[in-house]
Amino acid sequence: MKILVINGPNLNMLGKRDTKHYGADTLKSIEEKLTEKGKALGCKLFFFQSNHEGSIIDFIQEKAPQADGILINPGALTHYGYSLHDALLDSGLPVVEVHLSDIHAREKWRKISVISDVVIKQISGLKAQGYLLGLEALLSHIRSQKKK
Ligand code: DQA
Repeated sequence: MKILVINGPNLNMLGKRDTKHYGADTLKSIEEKLTEKGKALGCKLFFFQSNHEGSIIDFIQEKAPQADGILINPGALTHYGYSLHDALLDSGLPVVEVHLSDIHAREKWRKISVISDVVIKQISGLKAQGYLLGLEALLSHIRSQKKK
């Protein structure tokens, strides 16, 4: 089982961003926690972070054909990234959307996710734990689909 774990703009700065919203974890510590969880759940994770929407789309187009699912925190692209939406849709893969902060309890513009209609689940407000729960949800979805 291969999972693409994608982080969008500014998430490389975790640890230095507002800890009230995003927690104290760095992207590296989140990726380490995910790697451990991935091993326990029997899947291989491929990490990618970029501040550029086009680079994320290139990564999805290139890697999706060999992958089983996508776990993504698109950062602010969540709220306006229509090309990201289309790339996720075109990948044909199950996608779980993760947000460290509770996007529904912040500014009005953050409540809108333009990718929400192409994801099987959105997890918001659980800080780093959201990624781990997101990975679990993604894998159980993929495994239940394979049984059919
Ligand atoms: C975020 C929420 C977005 O609104 C914000 O632009 C981010 C991070 C989150 O993880 O809570 O960069 O996706």
